[in-house]
Amino acid sequence: MSAPAWLLRGARVVDPAQGRDEPLDVLVRGGVVAEVGVGLDAAGATVLDVAGALLAPGLVDLHAHLREPGEEHKETIATGTRAAAAGGYTAVAAMANTSPVSDRAAVVRAVRELAEATGACDVFPVGAITKGQQGETLAEIGELVEAGVRLLSDDGRCVASARVLRNALTYARAFAEPVVIADHAEDPDLVEGGQMHEGVHSVALGLAGRPAEAEEVIVARDLAIARMTGGRLHLCHLSSARAVELVRRAKQEGIRVSAEVTPHHLTFTDEDLRDYDTNLKVNPPLRTAEDREALRDALVDGTIDAVATDHAPHAVEEKEVEFDRAPPGTIGLETALAVVLTELVAPGRIDLLRAIDALSTTPARILGASEHGGPIAPGRPANLVVVDPEASWVVEPPFVSKARNAAFLGRRLRGRVVHTLLRGRPTVLDGKVVA
Ligand code: NCD
Ligand code: ZN
Repeated sequence: MSAPAWLLRGARVVDPAQGRDEPLDVLVRGGVVAEVGVGLDAAGATVLDVAGALLAPGLVDLHAHLREPGEEHKETIATGTRAAAAGGYTAVAAMANTSPVSDRAAVVRAVRELAEATGACDVFPVGAITKGQQGETLAEIGELVEAGVRLLSDDGRCVASARVLRNALTYARAFAEPVVIADHAEDPDLVEGGQMHEGVHSVALGLAGRPAEAEEVIVARDLAIARMTGGRLHLCHLSSARAVELVRRAKQEGIRVSAEVTPHHLTFTDEDLRDYDTNLKVNPPLRTAEDREALRDALVDGTIDAVATDHAPHAVEEKEVEFDRAPPGTIGLETALAVVLTELVAPGRIDLLRAIDALSTTPARILGASEHGGPIAPGRPANLVVVDPEASWVVEPPFVSKARNAAFLGRRLRGRVVHTLLRGRPTVLDGKVVA
């Protein structure tokens, strides 16, 4: 069955790949963009009147924990990708800290098959850097890359051994395809037992701290090893001003590094933990207002390349416990775009084109997801999102995700996904998930 034809009429087309931001019609036929222009003829296509809406390339997430295989009580590929579609995503990188760990081709293939059978967006399985994410011996990186993996990460755990990281970054250079080594940059010894950012608020709340220096020292180390090896490094969920400054200087020096930031680190600070809300317990922890400002500046100037959700679903009974017993993580796929629109675009902190670039075009390039991220041009796969920028809503259950541990719970956001198209097929239509 061929995909239906749609005429998306009158939206503000925001397409970072072409530096384009103007009202246009987009005709979608046979799963691809057929025409982009003014006053297009419907020619038998179903017309979607999207005047006043934003039309962008479908979003791409570099960092989502979909939990399958092994922790299906938290999330599954079916529920996680539906949450992604609801948030405007057409592609997500599925983190490797599953059970079993995605450290060999068999697991990657299983994830991909599940995604093809049950998924509502494209899933790019991330491979582990080390066997079992134990940090000791390299995973079957050769067979992972052969199976199509382009992003390798032990996320959830820092690659603690500099020697192991060196070997991974060196090995990553051996492939014809660009292979990226993504590190969760927190020194395990410095954060041992820590529950939140170490500072005046951790002291006041009586919680053990995870100092910003834990990120700083690992980022400095990782950058040095990236320089030494020439391997391609990516830094997950940066949270601190000093780490950002190190990345800024490394980029000036020509080191091959990219970095991401989450919507929650762009919004909250350690002060917000005053009520011991376990939904705000995340790794790395929420830091100070100065750190948050530095993250925002870095996203604007491109020091931080992408916004990634770090969607980390947990079951209700796991999160509704004492703060120091709760697992870290917040869900994020359904809210990321609205958070960026509300917190950064609406106040004029970042322009819309750069915001979409950081949510779609740039992460697609880092992931090697060539069908995603635009350009919105004839012949290109119709992976698109339509957003009502004025729609105001409160983050509350029910969520499309199986989980409800949302840092943004109860917050009012502006900007809501109206339609998401995956290769021309709606996964979200009129605000409802239909995939
Ligand atoms: C993640 C998880 O739950 O898997 N939790 C988190 O707080 N970010 C692991 C991770 O990304 O560090
Ligand atoms: Zn992490």
